[in-house]
This record gives sequence, C-alpha cells and structure tokens, in this order.
Amino acid sequence: MNNADFLPFASEIARDAGALLLQHFQRVAVEYKGDYDIVTAADRASEDLVVGRLKSRYPSHSIVAEEGTGVDRDSEYVWYVDPLDGTTNFAHNVPVFSVSIGLEKNGERIVGVVYDPSRDEFFTAEKGSGAYLNNRRIKVSTIATAEAGLFASGFPAHMRNIDGNIHYFHQISALTHGGRRFGSAALDLCWVACGRLEGFWEFGLKSWDVSAGLAINAEAGGRVTDMAGGPYRSGEGHMAATNGLVHDEMLALFARISRGEMIAHTPSVQEL
Ligand code: IPD
Ligand code: CA
Ligand code: CA
Repeated sequence: MNNADFLPFASEIARDAGALLLQHFQRVAVEYKGDYDIVTAADRASEDLVVGRLKSRYPSHSIVAEEGTGVDRDSEYVWYVDPLDGTTNFAHNVPVFSVSIGLEKNGERIVGVVYDPSRDEFFTAEKGSGAYLNNRRIKVSTIATAEAGLFASGFPAHMRNIDGNIHYFHQISALTHGGRRFGSAALDLCWVACGRLEGFWEFGLKSWDVSAGLAINAEAGGRVTDMAGGPYRSGEGHMAATNGLVHDEMLALFARISRGEMIAHTPSVQEL
C-alpha cells in the first residue's frame, strides 16, 4: 500500500463533497433522526460521495461514517468520515460546517482532511509532515496561560436536555478570554491547530467528529488527552485538545470544576 496516495485522494474527495454541500446550502429541508438530532439530504448525499469513492479506491479498508454507510473489513486501515460536521448550523443557514475525513492505521491517526467550503479553508495533515491550511504550514498558538486564551466547546444535539457541559462552559468562559460554541467540532480542532483558539473540549464526541481534526492538531504541535490527562482514542469519552502550553492548566481547571468548586462567581439576578 502506497501511503503517498492517501492524503491527495482524501483531499480530492473532501473538496468535491464540500462543493456538493454548498449546492445544497440554504435549500435543504430538515429531517430528524432522534427527538432533536437533525439530518438533511445534504448529509446523505455527501456521505454517498465520500464513502462511495473510498470504497471503490480502497475496497479492503474499513470505513466508519456517521450516516451508517461505512463497512467493517477488519482492516488495519480505518477511515472516519463525517460528511457534514455542523448539521445544525447548516440546517439553520449558518455558514459554519465542514467535511471531515480521517485515516487511522492500527489506531494511529495518519491522515486528516477537514474542508470548510464557506470560507474555502482546507486543513490537511499527514503524520510526520506537518499541518497545513490552504497549503501553508500552520502551528498552534504561543499563548501560555488559560487566562489569556480563547476556548471552544460543543453540546451534542441529542443530549440537549441533560448536558452538564454548560457548567464547564460557564466557568471556562468566565476565567479566560472567552468560551465559544461554533458548532463544528472538526473545525474547532483545526482552529486550535492554526492558532485561532488555545483549546477545545467536549464530552462524548464520536470518532468521525475528531479523527481528522486531531491528526491536524497533532501535526500543528497541539496536544490531546482525556480529561484526566490520559491517552485519548478517537471517539472515546471526554476530550481536551489544546496548543499544549495551556493543557495542564486547563485540565486542572476542569478537575476543580468537576469537584464542585465554582471558581468563577455566579451572580445573583439582582447583581446583573
Ligand atoms: C456535531 C458538531 C458539534 C458538536 C456535536 C456534534 P454533527 O456534529 O460537531 O459541534 O458539538 O457534538 O455531534 O452532528 O453536526 O455532525
Ligand atoms: Ca459531527
Ligand atoms: Ca455529521
């Protein structure tokens, strides 16, 4: 198997899928795949394009894809496909969404491609060869304290009634330059990788949300762990990804919040 093929091929597919999403943008009807979880014809059309091409080029590889058209070939190579990351934005005509394609070999992230067609921003990485935005090398930021950092997080749609992350979001927002919720985890990771954000966290992301973005973040000099500082496998449990410099401080803040220490003051209504 010639590894040199993977990145150019994944890039070509991501560009085509991004173009397809733009054709659907502001024209699609919303459907539901749970009480609140939105899916559109664009998610399915993009997945058909990406998975169809991966299957015909690499028939022996496994594919994990969000809308369920992947295939398990018991291969050392597994592709992780999110055909439209940011569906809620997309369905509301908010132009923040992406196509995300990652490749792992024996569990190691070796290729990542995330395409943001609204901004025509194309993030790529291959293990050992650096991370790029539109073919220009990118690096994580040099901001070294959480207090001076900008952080993003996300809230899975299917958990909207029970998601305790809002407490962490509140605290981190109050202790730093701010918390942001952009709505595409793949882009959040890329924006850490190119220095726009110092960190990103979320509870319960899936492998297709993060595999590509984490490959890019790692090649840009970033760090990812679970919330306890241990290794993070794509799609398993809680994840913190940062520029590396603020990582330990961020984990320490999460540990304190998790113990019930509300570090930032919650004002009473009368104080506001
Ligand atoms: C969602 C986005 C969002 C994150 C959610 C994901 P989808 O993916 O990445 O930012 O907060 O957890 O499910 O459903 O738009 O592909
Ligand atoms: Ca997603
Ligand atoms: Ca998706």
